[in-house]
Amino acid sequence: MARYARAHGPVALITLTNPPVNALSAAVRTGIVESVSRALQDDRVRAVVICGENGTFCGGADIRQFSGPMSGPPLVPMIHSIEAGDKPVVAAIEGVALGGGLELALGCHYRIANPKARLGLPEVTLGLLPAAGGTQRLPRLIGITAALELITTGRHVSAQEALQLGLVDQISDGNTVQAAVKFALSVIDRPLNPRRLSLRTPACLPDAERVFDAALAQVKRRSRGAVAPVACVQAVRVAATLPYERGMARERELMGTLFTSGQARALQYAFFAQRNAGKWSLPNGARWNITKPGEVRRVGVIGLGTMGRGIVVSLVKAGISVVAIETKPKELEAGKIAVTAMLERDAGRRGVAPPLHLLTFTLSFSQLRGVDLVIEAVFEDMELKKRVFSDLCKVCTPDALICTNTSGLNVDELAAVTDRRPLVAGMHFFAPAHIMRLVEVVFGAQTSPESVATVMALGKRMGKVCVAVGNCPGFVGNRMLKHYINQACFLLEEGATPEQVDQALEEFGFALGIFKVNDLSGLDVGLRVRKAAGLIGPDIDPVNPPRWRKGERYCPLPDLLCQQGRFGQKTGRGWYLYDSPGAKEAKPDPEIRSFLEDYRRRYGITPRRLTSQEVIERCALSLANEGFRILADGVAAGPEDVDVIYLFGYGWPRHRGGPMFHAAQVGLAAVLEKLERYHRLHPDVPSLQPSPLLRKLVAAGSPPIQQWKSHIKKLSSNL
Ligand code: COA
Repeated sequence: MARYARAHGPVALITLTNPPVNALSAAVRTGIVESVSRALQDDRVRAVVICGENGTFCGGADIRQFSGPMSGPPLVPMIHSIEAGDKPVVAAIEGVALGGGLELALGCHYRIANPKARLGLPEVTLGLLPAAGGTQRLPRLIGITAALELITTGRHVSAQEALQLGLVDQISDGNTVQAAVKFALSVIDRPLNPRRLSLRTPACLPDAERVFDAALAQVKRRSRGAVAPVACVQAVRVAATLPYERGMARERELMGTLFTSGQARALQYAFFAQRNAGKWSLPNGARWNITKPGEVRRVGVIGLGTMGRGIVVSLVKAGISVVAIETKPKELEAGKIAVTAMLERDAGRRGVAPPLHLLTFTLSFSQLRGVDLVIEAVFEDMELKKRVFSDLCKVCTPDALICTNTSGLNVDELAAVTDRRPLVAGMHFFAPAHIMRLVEVVFGAQTSPESVATVMALGKRMGKVCVAVGNCPGFVGNRMLKHYINQACFLLEEGATPEQVDQALEEFGFALGIFKVNDLSGLDVGLRVRKAAGLIGPDIDPVNPPRWRKGERYCPLPDLLCQQGRFGQKTGRGWYLYDSPGAKEAKPDPEIRSFLEDYRRRYGITPRRLTSQEVIERCALSLANEGFRILADGVAAGPEDVDVIYLFGYGWPRHRGGPMFHAAQVGLAAVLEKLERYHRLHPDVPSLQPSPLLRKLVAAGSPPIQQWKSHIKKLSSNL
């Protein structure tokens, strides 16, 4: 809705009211149209201010209404009537003016912003473009280069930057609405035509063709197959070369294509999935999300290796005081230097002082007495972690939470050595922990709702996207990853090269193919995991290792590479060749080709030509298949949680929604049919056998992803 008031002499005030972000729902648009028309008709009114309730101007079009039929007045004529009206209209921007909200403000004749306001056109992040004149008005206001950058990235700008760009006319010092009213009074008699952006000609850009070609090439490179950024460039290009009306027609046409695209649906799904992930209402009825989190003022971090350092940096940046512990002076000093440097670099970039006063580096566990929560980030070794956990119980207060940063170890086994099982949880951070946003919050059999709520809230304060997951080997992310890596390796055995598999995955949208990722993280990581799982041992022939272990197909290729000292980037050789150890550019290695040929000969495998389609299907569908098993086991609360884990922790392309969303988009019946076919061809790969939940969903008529949860019966086991 929109409230209309004439409480300021000749100035009418229109207030958008649609909590929480005053999104432009049908009701709000109706309210605006009616209020603007009333103001324009009322002779006593000589100027208008538009603002939003509760300190937020407008978060844009109502994304929830995108899936239903369009109702209410459309945005374009609504904004046009504001711009064309014969009374000055001032936008009073507090909080955010995003998407349609900013387009509304661009239709106003003036814009006043609160110093804390953020403005932007983020439609591209939802697979769309700003189609209420944004692609045509913004270049006419701030110039083509700046508009191109904002529209193709969807970046939010601060009020200060908006002022510099000319996006707003003034920053208010005090009450923004009052300032806008005062401003409106001062412009009552000014001519309006110069303020109507649709009447302006964009500033001439020398060499425009070259600029647009370069912009197009850049967005194609960056967007990894996402189509919206390309459409954004095309729309702005029209603004630079053709009259406004023609530009609006092109904007509408491009939007028509994007709006119904699978990518837009995937990106909008990802938007809500990300916001819902923290809400984990559990299938067994326990509503942990309504449990009040405990207060966390001071945190202990044990271990200052790569993970520990990243965790400390994230905590301190969130304003949380940290006691950082190492066991040896040399390691403590190295950790201290690294953490301090990271914080100083970050503070330097933001022009603020590094919050070093929040940090205590120490060798002494006794300093942990006052902490509310400890994150243990020592080496991934169960016995070592157990020792640390029992030591922690001796010094921490009885109500302190103890969390382990592990990528897959059994949280219950660790909890069992403590005197506080309900207060033990896992926090699976992803490297580098100060940059990667995902945290899997692992609850064990006895972890209390309060503990999960506290850890989730702490992660959120650290700027992380937290997903609560059950305790099983590998949790959600790594449990699925195992099958993805296995498929990729089987493809090598069958005839592919690492670069062929990676290219297919990168064309699908992954930032890096799986073999490049392997090289980056180190092949020794997987080797350790396989050893711990008992898949490699002294009884295995290292020269002619068997291709079946524990009753299923096993690919020994990664083990053979490790035997050659090819551990990836750090050794200058892995699946690829690097100019030197630590160098980043992966080059195809002829040695790997002959190594693979030799391997296939030795094992009597006749290589075949593999298509990109098969690469994607086997990798993506085996991920989803395990995802279905995870859902059936109750290890994740729903498909959205699985997808958020893959979007934020494993580089799954956002414009493809996530592995579960992708399966839904391919069609569950088609996924089932493909898995059945691949399983027939590879009967010794159990992970290709369609999961019972997938079969059940197909039998139920392939319901939409939002309804899967109601079909998952046995979800309560671990939750
Ligand atoms: N339409 C519908 N709902 C919206 C919305 C929109 N444009 N923008 C935000 N919401 C909802 C969120 O889903 C969330 O709902 P929930 O509380 O039921 O989960 C709520 O508003 C708060 O959003 P959240 O993102 O959790 O709050 P925040 O303070 O961190 O961020 C925004 C606020 C506005 C910056 C952020 O929500 C955002 O970027 N929204 C999208 C803006 C956009 O892309 N607009 C263009 C649409 S084409």
